[in-house]
Amino acid sequence: MTTLFSPLRIGTLTLPNRLVMSPLTRNRAAAGTNAPTALNATYYAQRASAGLIISEATDISADAVGGVRAPGTYTPQQIDGWRQIAEAVHARHGRIFAQLWHVGRISHASLRPGGAAPVAPSAVQAKARVFDGTQFIAAGQPRALDVDEIRTIVRDFALAARNAREAGLDGIEIHGANGYLIDQFLQDGTNRRTDDYGGSLANRARFLFDVIEAVSAEWPGRVGLRLAPFSQANDMTDSDPMTTFGYVIERLNDYPLAYLHMPEGHPGGSRDLQPGHDVQVLRRAFKGMYMANNGYDRDLAMTAIETGRADLIAFGRAFLANPDLVERLARNAPLNVPDTTTFYGGDMRGYTDYPRLEMAA
Ligand SMILES: Cc1cc2nc3c(=O)[nH]c(=O)nc-3n(C[C@H](O)[C@H](O)[C@H](O)COP(=O)(O)O)c2cc1C
Repeated sequence: MTTLFSPLRIGTLTLPNRLVMSPLTRNRAAAGTNAPTALNATYYAQRASAGLIISEATDISADAVGGVRAPGTYTPQQIDGWRQIAEAVHARHGRIFAQLWHVGRISHASLRPGGAAPVAPSAVQAKARVFDGTQFIAAGQPRALDVDEIRTIVRDFALAARNAREAGLDGIEIHGANGYLIDQFLQDGTNRRTDDYGGSLANRARFLFDVIEAVSAEWPGRVGLRLAPFSQANDMTDSDPMTTFGYVIERLNDYPLAYLHMPEGHPGGSRDLQPGHDVQVLRRAFKGMYMANNGYDRDLAMTAIETGRADLIAFGRAFLANPDLVERLARNAPLNVPDTTTFYGGDMRGYTDYPRLEMAA
């Protein structure tokens, strides 16, 4: 029988188990350069027994930035930082994908090159907050991207994938979830465009598929995708998410993605959905590997794998607080409790100092 601890082949990669570390923004890259540090490498290496680590979201360009001390993937120094992480994870026999993002409207002029306004499909401001290094501030008023700028961002995604590959990472995950730029194009609450990138479903999905094609050309077989159909994170709304995401997911079958990753419900919140919203319907539309996330505990995860509802389970907060989560779940051991006050920014406290089971004992 297939269990949470059975190996799995995704694309050209073999994972020793089906437990994935979910992407977790921690705002601990080097101040000023946003290059990953030795401390970041230690943090990921501690979690290398995961079947797969998905990194915190990493900015594909200076234009993509929406917060302080999130790592970038576009300067030589940042690529060197990622190389350090790749080597540390590989030395512990792990595998790590980088989650590539552009935040779109979830930013603020004070965080962007030249103090410029955030960019988005349409000039619709988010009722959301961004981290400026010391506190959370309101997201700024965005301006709409023109088509040439959209094409530049697609190229930036491809370049970031190339850089991640050059750094020795194992693949990339496209961040199409949680109200960032790709999601802003997909959902009609944020996309009011009337050109080739807005209006019809095909047009709203055009940016995502442009990105999938561009990064897949850079790194065939090593591209995963995260979507969050029912997340209200960052003030997202769509008039008909089942139709929007049903369309997108059906079309994903034309691409050799390593996996589709979906938080089921509101990430970090309830798994309950409103009537008519059904993750399983969407999940079944996808013929490739399905990675489920959100609110999973040991029992829920084991059942999801054993019944075939999911091929992989991503754990966020549990992996944050338990570097040896795989061993703990295998032994049904108690888990450390995550300290929410050290999630974003800070130093090694609440980052690399969560004890392993033998240390706790
Ligand atoms: C501190 C923190 C940072 C997060 N950063 C990201 C991120 O960079 N990218 C992303 O897609 N999701 C991010 N998430 C969402 C998690 O990946 C995950 O979807 C969420 O925690 C629910 O999973 P869990 O119930 O296993 O924690 C973050 C969550 C937390 C708590």
